[in-house]
Parts: sequence; structure tokens; C-alpha cells
Amino acid sequence: MKKFRVLFSVLLSAAFLISACEGPMGPPGANGKDGADGKDANETCKLCHNNNVVQAKEVEFQISKHKYGEVAFEEAGTPGCAPCHLSEAFKYVCANNVPSTFTLNTTTGKYSNDFVATAMTAFGDLTCSTCHSSLHTNYESTDFMPLTTTAAVPMNMWKGTKTINLTQDNSFSNLCVKCHQPRPLTTSTTLSNGDVIDYNALASNPSTIFYDSSVGNATPNKVVPSYRFHVHYGTVGAIFAGQGGVQFSGTLAYENSAHTTAASCQDCHMTTLSGRAGGHTFSALGNFNGCNVAGCHSTAITSSSTTFWKNPRADIQALLNSLAAKINSVGGGTDILHSDPSTDTNLWAGLTTGNYDGYLNIYDPGTNPGGVWRNPAPAGTWTQAQKDTNSALPLFPSLNNAMMGSMINFQLCLREFSLGIHNYKYTKALLQNSLDALTAAGV
Ligand code: HEC
Ligand code: HEC
Ligand code: HEC
Ligand code: HEC
Ligand code: HEC
Repeated sequence: MKKFRVLFSVLLSAAFLISACEGPMGPPGANGKDGADGKDANETCKLCHNNNVVQAKEVEFQISKHKYGEVAFEEAGTPGCAPCHLSEAFKYVCANNVPSTFTLNTTTGKYSNDFVATAMTAFGDLTCSTCHSSLHTNYESTDFMPLTTTAAVPMNMWKGTKTINLTQDNSFSNLCVKCHQPRPLTTSTTLSNGDVIDYNALASNPSTIFYDSSVGNATPNKVVPSYRFHVHYGTVGAIFAGQGGVQFSGTLAYENSAHTTAASCQDCHMTTLSGRAGGHTFSALGNFNGCNVAGCHSTAITSSSTTFWKNPRADIQALLNSLAAKINSVGGGTDILHSDPSTDTNLWAGLTTGNYDGYLNIYDPGTNPGGVWRNPAPAGTWTQAQKDTNSALPLFPSLNNAMMGSMINFQLCLREFSLGIHNYKYTKALLQNSLDALTAAGV
């Protein structure tokens, strides 16, 4: 604690020095009364710096992927990735209200994403102060609140035209969704204008050709399929809120489960610790405490419950498997979806029978050297041997809007990870209606 006392007196003298430079001194005033004795700085610090508060949360936080995940290190200095992966950048986009829109550059005719941080702020591991913006402001326990943001979240994937606003439990879920939202899927800036792919157009014209394989890497194709042709990883926010998918019309209506308005992220992910989950681990894996608090499920839910755990998850898993099979059938005997059984490299290993990860099995010498489909857009930087390997592979098939939209829905529903627990009704409708759209399109 001695260290803290020294630090505090340094802070006090620094404050004095700053106020000393503030301008000409006024006339001397009358002598005031001596002030009351101040609180012992050490006591103030102990409000938080003790085993039950800061230290306890720090220990839980050690097993949170926010802490041990490696992307904050890998993407340091990258303004486009930074808003969700780097602490200073997250604080920057929140404080400056950086919009989720896209802007058209009228000179180049190309769109660019406005939801980016600056080069100077693209740094910092996710820490306590990423979410708790007022730490060390008043040195009171109230410094833990407010959180960095709880404002409604305009979705970047929809260029800000749709907003997620989860108002239950002080709107804290909006903090999570600001980062746990999908990224926009855009058209190519060489073949097209880099604008966001319009999900409504995909849903309303399912049999229109989206990608013509006989044309390949040329117009009128606006996008060329590749290994990482995807909506990114943070799909939970969109699925939870029931507004992220390509909503084909089909047998099921688009509705939300009770969780969307009644439960908050912290209810299930920050509940009383159990195993390696709960509290500031932010994990829900195997921890059912959140389901069973007062006001939620009155009949206790456990890992062996059928109605509220096993059955809905089995349903969603079966639909994911059927949709994967139908999407793969486009390849005429060779899967187009990439499969990876390793739990080290595939976050969703084991969720589907085929261990899909949502990528396409297209050749790429760096990221997918074992790819079985020819890359329609080989890079100039590839070696001749890599180009030869690629041209020996079969031509990737054409895709219509039903196929493209179903692939997006497959990624969204696989990567929300909970097999429907986040929003069972919406997940089920997206998957079932994708199957219907593919059947109607003759797949
Ligand atoms: C409102 C609760 C709270 C109070 C009161 C508080 N701290 Fe902190 N302090 C924190 C948190 C939270 C962290 C971040 C811990 C981490 O990153 O693991 C922190 C971190 C620190 C650090 C590590 C450096 C840093 O900034 O991350 C020092 C040093 C520190 N506090 C000193 C003090 C001193 C001295 C006092 C009393 C004058 C004090 N704190 C009062 C919550 C508090
Ligand atoms: C500043 C952005 C940000 C905020 C805010 C945020 N997260 Fe995260 N979260 C991430 C990132 C980025 C990762 C992955 C880190 C990595 O792998 O390096 C992650 C990982 C996770 C994981 C682990 C996922 C896995 O694959 O194991 C869970 C669970 C999680 N977050 C839940 C939450 C909850 C609940 C909240 C709100 C209380 C929240 N997050 C708030 C960015 C954020
Ligand atoms: C809109 C917020 C957002 C942006 C922007 C973003 N990410 Fe992420 N990213 C996330 C979240 C949230 C996760 C964790 C999702 C989970 O595990 O459920 C994640 C996960 C990842 C992972 C997987 C980490 C693992 O645990 O395996 C990688 C790799 C990654 N991001 C790289 C990037 C790169 C590179 C960029 C920039 C091109 C980027 N991200 C931009 C939100 C974002
Ligand atoms: C990803 C965002 C996030 C990070 C990172 C984070 N917290 Fe929190 N913290 C929250 C949220 C959200 C709550 C409110 C939870 C609830 O109400 O159930 C909270 C609550 C708390 C509380 C209880 C405050 C109160 O007034 O009830 C303390 C103490 C706390 N956090 C400390 C920490 C410390 C210490 C760290 C770093 C080791 C940390 N937090 C990191 C999001 C975060
Ligand atoms: C009704 C409870 C519940 C709510 C509410 C909830 N989750 Fe989850 N979440 C789960 C379950 C259950 C899992 C999967 C854990 C398992 O398989 O055991 C999960 C998984 C996740 C994962 C992947 C975790 C991993 O370990 O890979 C992330 C990220 C996540 N949730 C984020 C969120 C966010 C963000 C919110 C709020 C928008 C949220 N969750 C709301 C129950 C919930």
C-alpha cells in the first residue's frame, strides 16, 4: 500500500503544478477556516484495491478471452479492425460517436466504411478501463459506472440503417453488441463500388445470379468468392436482436424468443461463477446459474434439461447440418464449405457433423493451401507453382442469390455458437427459410 501513498502524493503535486500555471493570481482573500481533515488516500484506494473487488475481478478476467485472446496484439496499428479489438480505439469510437455509415467518394466512385478508428488509437489490450470509462475519476466505488457506452448500436453491416437497442437491465447489453456485431459484407472495389451487399435484394430475388462462374473475376460480377468470404465472427449481437439475417420468405415467420427483450448479455455471461464461467470471465460455457435466477426460468435448467436445453439445440444443430448439406450439393459431389475438426483453429468445431467453420474451401496459398476449388482471382504476388496448383483445380460453381444468402445465414447461425439459445425462434426461421429458398431454386 505504501506504493499507492507515494503515487497519490505525486498525483497531488502534479495537480498543484498544473493549477499553478493557470494565469495571474487574484487579490489576496480573507483568511479562511482550516479545512476538515481529508480522507486517508490509502483508505480511498482500499475501497477498490482489495481481494473482493479489483483483485477478484482481475483473477476472473485472466480466463476471459478479452484478456488472453491474441487479436489485440496481432491487429495493433490497424484502424479498421481496432474499434472492436483494441481498447483505445473502442474508447475513441464511443467518445467521438464515430458513425456506422459508408461514404461515397464522388471522385473515385467508391464507398468506404466510416466505422474505423485512427492510427494513433489503434492500440491497447482490452482491460478494465475499456468498459469502465470513469476509473480513477473520483476515487469512489461509483467510478465503476457509467460504462463506456450503453447507447443504441447502429449496425455497421447495415450501414447504420438498422439499430440494435437492448434496453433491459440498464441497456448494458448494448456495450457488448457494439463489438459483438457482424462486419459488413461488401462488393469488390475493383469490379464494383465497394458498397455493402444488399441483404434485402438477396432475399427478394432468390433466383437471380449473384456470381457467374463463366465470367469469373470480371464485371458484371460484383464480388468474387474466396476462402474468407464472410460476415466475421461477432454474429451474436445481430442474431440475439433478431435483425442480422437474409430473411427469405418461407415456412416460418421471423419472430424473436423471449431472451431478446427479457434477458441481457450479463444475465447469462456474468452470472455467479461456476466452473470456468460467470462473472468477469464473460463466459457462459456450462454455467446455468443465469437461467435460474429469480424472475427467469422457474423450473431449474441444467445440462440435462430437455425442453429448454437439449431439444432446441438439437433442432438447430439438425437444421445447420441440413443446410450445410444443401449448400455443399452446389459443388456436385465436392463440398464447397471448408471443414476443420481442430478445436485450436476452428472456434465452431463440433457444432456441426462436418465441422464447418463458415469459410469456403477455395484455394489460397497463405490461408487455405489445401483448398479444393480454384480461386477465381489469383493474386499477382503468387509464385508460378501456386498459380499452377490453382489452375489445376475445378472451377468454383456459379451462385444465385438463394445460395449466397443461405451461406450468409449459415455463417450467422453457426457462429452465434449457442445453437439457438440466444434467439431460438429467429435462428430457426433463418435456417428453415434458407432451406426452403434453396429447394425453390432447384438446389
Ligand atoms: C473505483 C475503484 C478504484 C479506486 C477507488 C482506486 N482504484 Fe486504482 N485501479 C482500479 C482499477 C479497476 C484498476 C485497473 C486494474 C487492472 O487493469 O487490472 C486500477 C489500477 C490502478 C493502478 C495500476 C495502474 C493503472 O492505472 O492501471 C494503480 C497504480 C492504482 N490503481 C492506484 C490507485 C490509487 C493510488 C488509488 C487511491 C488513490 C486507487 N488506485 C483507487 C480501481 C480503483
Ligand atoms: C471492446 C469490444 C468488446 C466489448 C465491449 C465486449 N467484447 Fe466480448 N469479445 C471481444 C473480442 C474482440 C473478443 C475476441 C478476442 C480475441 O479472440 O482476441 C471477445 C470475446 C468474447 C467472448 C469469448 C468468445 C470465444 O470465442 O471464446 C465472450 C463470451 C464475450 N466476448 C462476451 C462478451 C460480453 C458478454 C460482453 C458485454 C458484457 C462483451 N463481450 C463485451 C470484444 C468485445
Ligand atoms: C465490429 C467489431 C469487429 C471488427 C471491426 C473486427 N472484429 Fe474481429 N472479432 C470481433 C469479435 C466480437 C470477435 C469474437 C467473436 C467470438 O468469438 O464470438 C472477433 C474475432 C476475431 C478473430 C478470431 C479470434 C479467435 O479467437 O480465434 C480474428 C482472427 C479477428 N477477429 C480478426 C479481425 C481482423 C483482422 C479485423 C480487421 C480486418 C477484425 N477482426 C475486425 C469483432 C470485430
Ligand atoms: C467487456 C467489458 C468489461 C470489462 C473488460 C470489465 N468489466 Fe467490470 N463490469 C462490466 C459490466 C457490464 C458490469 C455490470 C455487470 C452486471 O450488472 O451484472 C461490470 C461490473 C463490475 C463491477 C461491479 C460494479 C457495480 O457497481 O456493481 C466491478 C467491481 C467491476 N466490474 C470491476 C472490473 C474490473 C476490476 C475489471 C478489470 C479486471 C473489469 N471490471 C473489466 C463490464 C466489464
Ligand atoms: C439466455 C442466456 C444467454 C444470453 C442472454 C446471452 N448468451 Fe451468449 N451464450 C449463451 C450460451 C448458453 C452460449 C453457449 C455456451 C455453451 O455452449 O455452453 C453462449 C455463447 C456466446 C458466445 C460464444 C462463446 C464462446 O465461448 O465461444 C458469445 C461471444 C456470446 N454468447 C455473447 C453474447 C452476447 C454479446 C450477448 C448479449 C447480446 C449474449 N451472449 C447473451 C447464453 C446466453
